[in-house]
Amino acid sequence: MRTLIKDTINKVGEEVLLKGWVHTRRDMGKIIFIDLRDSSGLIQVVFASKDPELVAEANKLRSEFVLAITGEVKARPEKMVNPKIATGTVEILVKKLEILNEAKTLPFEIDKDTSVVNEELRMKYRYLDIRSERVKNNIILRSKITREVRNFLNDKGFFEIETPYLTKGTPEGAREYIVPSRVQPGKFYVLPQSPQQFKQLLMVGGIEKYFQVARCFRDEDSRGDRQPEFTQIDMEMSFVGQEDVMQLTEEMIIEIVKKITPEKTITKIPFPILTYQEAMEKYKTDKPDLREDKDNPNELAFCWVVDFPLFEWSESDKKLNSSHHPFTMPQKEDLNLLDEHPLDAKAYAYDIALNGYEVGGGSIRIHDRNLQSKIFRILGVGKDEAEERFGHMFEAFSYGAPPHGGLALGFDRLVMLLAGEPNIREIIPFPKTADARDLMMGAPSELPKEVLKDVHIKIVE
Ligand code: AMO
Repeated sequence: MRTLIKDTINKVGEEVLLKGWVHTRRDMGKIIFIDLRDSSGLIQVVFASKDPELVAEANKLRSEFVLAITGEVKARPEKMVNPKIATGTVEILVKKLEILNEAKTLPFEIDKDTSVVNEELRMKYRYLDIRSERVKNNIILRSKITREVRNFLNDKGFFEIETPYLTKGTPEGAREYIVPSRVQPGKFYVLPQSPQQFKQLLMVGGIEKYFQVARCFRDEDSRGDRQPEFTQIDMEMSFVGQEDVMQLTEEMIIEIVKKITPEKTITKIPFPILTYQEAMEKYKTDKPDLREDKDNPNELAFCWVVDFPLFEWSESDKKLNSSHHPFTMPQKEDLNLLDEHPLDAKAYAYDIALNGYEVGGGSIRIHDRNLQSKIFRILGVGKDEAEERFGHMFEAFSYGAPPHGGLALGFDRLVMLLAGEPNIREIIPFPKTADARDLMMGAPSELPKEVLKDVHIKIVE
């Protein structure tokens, strides 16, 4: 039976079988020390045997060899205790060694913080970077937060529901990734920028509380807090107002911080609420950084921004665009502004900001067919085009759609800030470069002509 390294401290005097990697190796003349690593931690392993076969095997060991080791757990004398590792009170005296696999010299050292290593190299060998402590811890932290989100929302009566990836466009303001159809020549799916329409249609379907750990796809230029595919904690509820959505989100975030990153402090609870106008006047941004001490790595300053304008003027398109998305409900008192002064109308839309990053956003939705067509009309979407692109929504709204609203957290950004990392690539297991390449897999890549022909695609030089 294998013992995990972290459990050795309770087994002094016992013989254990450990499996893992050579983290570091030190030769002290007749004695060889290695630090053995598994997913649970590090332990010092000592080869002090006179058995010539064992010594010969031990001499072959290099960094990152994979081993099975049988040996005795020994308490270290007080002076030799290593407070830097969790198993520092013990060490293993090796009796038997089996080399399970060898390793070439790694392209970079993983027993030190790899953040100083060339990032393209780290991305190409991401599986090695994941062996390093910081990246591994980031990925484990992400997993713990996901689990906490699931527990919290399940306890609140939400259902976790998957929505399609092969679908039709949903407008969130970015370009979409397209997927050619083989069986429908000349037609294409697009990958969703968010599950927006599906989650609304689940509300029409009578599911009153939905959530999903949803992958979203947006073909836009990447940067530190943006990736072409990213994850949202996506939520939607029926019969709620904006305060309900905000309150639930806030409660969830506070619980995550308390349980998973208790070393962090939240500057103000309840989270301050600013109107869009206040935020712009006072901080010149709709995602203000309200930290009291920007040098404190453990400070988390959340705030809500509400009362966003429903529309914004796009100089490049010379037309109105939705500030959030076209399914967002105008505020009741502003409905009369829609015809003459649409830019003055405010929306039931809210963002949540953390330390200067937008970590989430949502809105109360339109559930009335006529109001929804009016919004598309104001956005300059012709009747036929609206029918063609969103006919299913209009129809759904005419079969007793309940009032509903929701929000999506940008999960990568939230995890980045809880992990104290400077960009979201550090907390995404397999991230892409700024120009959207996966250096490890070599994606995107060319495809054989026959494959393209199958999906009715011809490359024009
Ligand atoms: P929105 O477009 O504001 O809203 O997205 C919600 C949150 O997702 C994060 N985000 C991103 N994170 C990483 N990379 C990206 N490219 C990226 N784009 C967005 C942000 C943002 O706040 N359907 C609506 C939500 C709703 O109305 O319920 C939506 O997607 O943190």
